[in-house]
Amino acid sequence: MQELKDILIQEIINNSNFIKATFSGIRRTSNNSWNKILIEPVIIKDKNMLQFNYFDTVKSITKNVEIEKFQTEINDVISCHFTSIYLRSNNYGKQIQITKKNKVLVKTHKNLDEVIVNKSHDKEKNRITSSKDNYLEMLGIASTDGKIKPNMHSKYKQIDEFIKIISRLTDWNEYKDQVNIIDCGVGNGYLTLATYNYFKNAISKDIHMEAIDIDAGAIERNNSKIKKLDWEDLHFETSNIISYDPIKKQDIDLTIALHACDTATDEALCLAIENKSKYILSVPCCHHDIQFQLKNNPSNNSIIKSEKHGILIERQGDIIADTLRYMLLEICGYSTNIIQYISNDHTSKNIMIRAEKHNDAVPEEKINEYKEFKSFWRVKPELEKLLTQKDIIKL
Ligand SMILES: C[S@@+](CC[C@H](N)C(=O)[O-])C[C@H]1O[C@@H](n2cnc3c(N)ncnc32)[C@H](O)[C@@H]1O
Repeated sequence: MQELKDILIQEIINNSNFIKATFSGIRRTSNNSWNKILIEPVIIKDKNMLQFNYFDTVKSITKNVEIEKFQTEINDVISCHFTSIYLRSNNYGKQIQITKKNKVLVKTHKNLDEVIVNKSHDKEKNRITSSKDNYLEMLGIASTDGKIKPNMHSKYKQIDEFIKIISRLTDWNEYKDQVNIIDCGVGNGYLTLATYNYFKNAISKDIHMEAIDIDAGAIERNNSKIKKLDWEDLHFETSNIISYDPIKKQDIDLTIALHACDTATDEALCLAIENKSKYILSVPCCHHDIQFQLKNNPSNNSIIKSEKHGILIERQGDIIADTLRYMLLEICGYSTNIIQYISNDHTSKNIMIRAEKHNDAVPEEKINEYKEFKSFWRVKPELEKLLTQKDIIKL
């Protein structure tokens, strides 16, 4: 990658008009854990330096690098194998694409607007005290020195893995200008804030987000947190999920629900389907509704007969409940995958339903399979009740 390194030295070091370099686009085969890297010139104690900002899904780190040490640092950046680099200088920009065969394609954008750059280190101070990285500390996940607190490690891993999956759903850089997201059953807002931060700061995407919970106290606490962050297009609303009326109806790109209790997951799926959410990521929590139905009206087909083995009935209930959910999603025109999204070490509630909207047509055989499965187990899932009440499906 000597050719790329030469261009970067020329445009960043030997160029007094250099403003910013943005590295983005991750190759699937890359082991790199950063989603984006920014390089900007800064002046610290009267010395010209370069500030490297490394972003992953939930955090970022900043390194101020002396010009003489640029070559070592840039080698690490190049080894991350980003596919797209934008080099902005005053009046012009250079878009670099790295092909799968490591060919370096450069396109120059001439006559861009002039930008007045404040290289003072105060800029960095402002950013740290405003919104950029400190949300993890505000949530009580990280301590003041930026380290994840030992008792919050599992929560941190849960949101980190969740956001990795969001980041891989599509190429968000190429997606439409603004991404609209609904988070259902947000609790303390851990996933909400991490998701908002990912779009707004890690990939610099315009985001509108609505975050709902039935618990007015939790929403009040979350609202006061975001006041400090100044995240203007994040709306926490008190509502039960099913009767929530989204601000941006029918134009939802992603619906997320992490551990929305029991049938709150069904409400989240119904809300997503009703509003034609392009993507849905839902990690169900307790499955009491179906477990209860199985215990109280056991199927003759069930191989688990004895009440004594309650844990097996419970686990069976979990699987049946999520199977019915994905079947209903497919009836509603979604393609689905069920994955274990994180190891059991971090949470045993780790099955994720991942769905993507493809079409509105209802394939007849999917309806028949669903009906057969449901009558085999003698259950009626909440999601079916909600979808029929809202006239979204007729079975
Ligand atoms: C286990 S917490 C999960 C919080 C968060 N998603 C997380 O994983 O950190 C479940 C949340 O769902 C909310 N909830 C439960 N049923 C709900 C419903 N029907 N409508 C809206 N929120 C609901 C609860 O108030 C609670 O805050």
